[in-house]
Order: sequence, then structure tokens, then C-alpha cells
Amino acid sequence: MAKYEIATIDGDGIGPEVCQSAITVLKEACGAGLLSFTSHEGGADHYVRSGHVLPDDTYAACKAADAILHGAAGMPGVTYPDGTEVGNDLHLRLRFRLDLYANVRPIRLYQGVDSPLKHFKPGQIDYVIVRENTEGLYASRGGGIVLRDEVATDTIVVTRKGIERVARFSFELARQRKGAPRDGKRRVTVCDKANILRTYAFFRAVCDDVAAGYPDVEIDYAYADAITVHMLKRPDFYDVIVAENMFGDIISDLGAATIGGMGLSASAELGDTHGLFQGAHGSAPDIAGQNAASPLATILSGALMLRWLGDKHADAALTESAQRIELAVEQVLAKGDHVPRDLGGSASCTDMTQAVCRALSR
Ligand code: IPM
Ligand code: MN
Repeated sequence: MAKYEIATIDGDGIGPEVCQSAITVLKEACGAGLLSFTSHEGGADHYVRSGHVLPDDTYAACKAADAILHGAAGMPGVTYPDGTEVGNDLHLRLRFRLDLYANVRPIRLYQGVDSPLKHFKPGQIDYVIVRENTEGLYASRGGGIVLRDEVATDTIVVTRKGIERVARFSFELARQRKGAPRDGKRRVTVCDKANILRTYAFFRAVCDDVAAGYPDVEIDYAYADAITVHMLKRPDFYDVIVAENMFGDIISDLGAATIGGMGLSASAELGDTHGLFQGAHGSAPDIAGQNAASPLATILSGALMLRWLGDKHADAALTESAQRIELAVEQVLAKGDHVPRDLGGSASCTDMTQAVCRALSR
């Protein structure tokens, strides 16, 4: 029996391709006996077939597993009567029900990748966005109202408990890191709109309370609108950014754009017991089934999964495999003879998978 059971959900669009790619790389990196993967149904296509976006047995398997690896879910045409997309519920329900409160999204410029911010070299963009993942505006999904076809509401909700734990997570993460590339300072930037809304002023105040316990980490503040400018003009200033759910969703896509795009956007959604790993990109139905998607975001998310499992179980073999995968991806990008389409090349999903596997075995 393998030591760690990974529940996988392929999902929709390019989900199956990128998920299978990550599994291939993880198996190559860890060898036999360490991980076993079991695939489960879920997502928009499955909803069309069965009426369930997250079937009960998939949820039970995810809950019981050591970690969850997911491709991507969602189809633009598959919507509820209110117009919102069904596929997202696969993910959102897992977040809420498994209490995955910290959504970790590293933004790191690799050698060989052309950033639109040409002044910043690899190493000079290297920060992590920690998105609060269980509260905020998205927590009220499905609970808003549309009145008389005239007025619509959704309510933002934050709690001291929810903010405290994600702030603590962010400060602890900063302690493990080397500081911001610009000045080597360990820094947590709180991204909010404390100037406009009470919820965000409260978010900031609770982050301040938590910061008092971390005198070795600098606290910094940025309004959500202003940070979109700073992330382009001085990305090297950032080390860890903590943000309310919706702001974290938005700024993590922006951050990904500065390091080459969503094809490199790894993501780990962590709670105290469970962890879900997937690229932060969507299901890209326009290129699905063509072997055209870049699997790198999912592969890098797989490496985050190994790191998290390695820390949780004090298992050095996992941490070492995570490092090897990250290094292999770095080497493939730096070498530049296999470049995925989203980065201007023509390598297919399987080409990229094989290139990473070859780099692993060197
Ligand atoms: C993300 C996605 C999700 C979100 C979807 C899949 C629920 O955009 O993980 O960033 O909107 O949070
Ligand atoms: Mn998103």
C-alpha cells in the first residue's frame, strides 16, 4: 500500500490533460510506493450528466485522502438559472466544506520566461499571495438576492477568527522565506480597501493585532486598486501579500501575468487538515482535448502538494521530490528547447510532461 493517498479530480476542459501530466511527473519524482492516485468524478460536464457537480462519494474520498489534486472545472455554457457558473461549485464547496482557508499562490519569475516587466530579472520577482479562501465576498455565493429585476445584492462577510488564521499563516510563511528581493526584508503586505469599507478596515485591524506577535516581519498595507500598479512597477518589493478572498482572486491573476501568465500559476489551498492543489487557471475549453495546454501550473502545484505533505508528516523524501520537480521545471524553462504555447513556443502538453520527466531523471 502506498504511503499517501491522493484523490484526483480531472474536471473539465483541459483539466484531464494537465492533471494526468502532473500525476506522471509526481510518479516519476517519487517512484513507486509513496503516492497512490485515485480519480473521482466532478465538475460541469459531470453535472450535465448526473445533476451533481461534487458527488457525495467524491467529497467523501477527498475528505479521506491525504491530499487532493485537481485539473480545472467549469464550462461557460453550464450555468444555474441565476446565470452563475455551475462548475465553480466543485471547487468552492471543497474550499468551504474542507475549510481550506489559506490559498497560497507563488509569483516567481523563472529564467527563460519573458516577463512583460523587462526591468526585472529572474529572482527579482518572487513573492507569494495568500488569498483568504473561506470568507469575504465569495462566501455569500448563492445567498444574494435579485429584487424586481432592479436590484441585486451579495454580502461580504469576514470574521476575526477567519482573518486571524490567514494572517497568522502569512506571517509564519514570511518567517520561512528569505524576504523581498528588493531589500531582503521579511514583509507581509495587507491588501484591502480599508479606506472605503468597514469589513476591510476590520481586516486590516485584525492583521495589525496578529502582526504584533511577529516583530521580525514588517507589516505593510496597500489598497487593492493601488497594488495593481505597485505589482507592475515594483514587484520586487513584495514578499507575502495577504488579501480578502475576491481581491486575492483578482490580484493573483495579475501577479501570474507578470511572470509569464496563468500557465505558470501554481496554487495550494490549505486548511489545518486538508489540502487541495491545482493550477490557478481555468478549464480553457477553447483548447481542450488538443494536447495544447501547458501543464506547468499543475505540475508546480503538485510540487506544492509534496512540500505540504512533507511538512505535515515530517517526511523528507517528499520535500526532496518537491525540490526536484521545481528544479526540473526551472531547468526546462531555462534551457528553452521545450516552450509551451502560452509562452510563445509550440511544445504540447505531453512534450512538456516528458521534458520535465527527463530533467528529473538527470
Ligand atoms: C480560482 C478560480 C476560482 C475562483 C473558481 C474555480 C472557483 O478563479 O481558483 O482563482 O473564482 O475562486
Ligand atoms: Mn481566479
